[in-house]
Amino acid sequence: MQKTVYYIEGDGIGPEVWAAGRPVLDAAVQKAYGGERRIEWVELLAGEKAHRETGEYLPGATMQALRGAQLAMKGPLTTPVGQGFRSLNVTLRQTLDLYACIRPIRHFKGVESPVKHPDAVDMVVFRENTEDVYAGIEYAAGSPEARRLLEFLRDELGANVDAAAGVGVKPITEHCSKRLVRKAITHALDTGRSSVTLVHKGNIMKYTEGAFRGWGYEVAAEEFAGRVVTEDSGQSADVVINDRIADAMFQNALMYPEQYDVLATTNLNGDYLSDALAAQVGGLGLAPGVNMGDTLAFFEPTHGTAPTIAGKDKANPGSLILSGAMMLEHAGMPEAAALIHASMDKVVSSGRVTVDLASQIPGATTIGCAAFGHLLGEHL
Ligand code: NAI
Repeated sequence: MQKTVYYIEGDGIGPEVWAAGRPVLDAAVQKAYGGERRIEWVELLAGEKAHRETGEYLPGATMQALRGAQLAMKGPLTTPVGQGFRSLNVTLRQTLDLYACIRPIRHFKGVESPVKHPDAVDMVVFRENTEDVYAGIEYAAGSPEARRLLEFLRDELGANVDAAAGVGVKPITEHCSKRLVRKAITHALDTGRSSVTLVHKGNIMKYTEGAFRGWGYEVAAEEFAGRVVTEDSGQSADVVINDRIADAMFQNALMYPEQYDVLATTNLNGDYLSDALAAQVGGLGLAPGVNMGDTLAFFEPTHGTAPTIAGKDKANPGSLILSGAMMLEHAGMPEAAALIHASMDKVVSSGRVTVDLASQIPGATTIGCAAFGHLLGEHL
């Protein structure tokens, strides 16, 4: 079995984390399947490298390949200033309709955390990626657009809003809510996880957040009957679906993390929640992620280009490597992914780590990006 993975090296520390990380992914596949399975890596250009070689930051050939792809990985991309679009990352996500941002969060032994039992955290956050207040529909206080909108709200709909307000719009649709929750439930069933929690502020925002909750339960009942049951049904099944109000979820994540498994939530809640949970297990340093649509899964580390350490062999390739492990799991190579996780546990707890982690591990020895990659390969 051979899987084609399109990859974008990325800017800043991108080339060095790839150089350290890709051999670890290949070695894990080789070790797990002895040559029976392999990855075919196909490079696509984007970002500064693309600009140098083609004059464009996001060449048409890259988008064309990604439109037909199932698996892709990328390093971080600099947001070019004044190029006519907000960010390459946002452009990729929107154009390819990568509607689910998925972040698994677990603790690695040895990494210092602000809580007593970081090892109790083992969750996967499914964050809706396309709508909510991130849709970019916003008008500045005092602008003609804001004034018109506020007049309409007051005169036509009887809403009592201060005419001097800045305003934003929070669209939440049945289609986008259901496809996100469908993905979360499917993931829970496929990976043997026991619960899916819908996280929302439906008590306050009834027709957006509350509707998300309602559509989430609907998709569970309509499409997964028998395999998914609600918490209060008194029945048992592969997966229990429940819901929590977002503020209570933040408390529960700290106090009873062992009770939570897969979380499915709207865009803004998901943004806060995934970073808060990452902090709970010791920061963003090792956090992997994926943006997924219906056909394409696009894996990436959660950090940026770290320009101040680029080219200095100081970057931590862990987030890219763990994103690669997620990719291997998704591509039907879970044994290779498990080898990477076990190796990461061993190397991190040995305390020979890159400078960012060394500063969090008492008595640790600092090693470079390339050496950290080598060590992970050796411990597979
Ligand atoms: P950043 O993640 O690049 O850096 C934040 C801090 O973390 C810095 O101190 C940096 O040195 C450190 N850091 C980040 N990754 C590290 C690693 N692997 N090993 C060791 N230390 C690491 O975020 P920042 O500074 O906000 O953004 C820099 C650039 O990256 C911007 O152009 C931004 O747009 C872009 N960016 C791209 C992302 C992507 O492609 N997905 C995500 C976030 C930012």
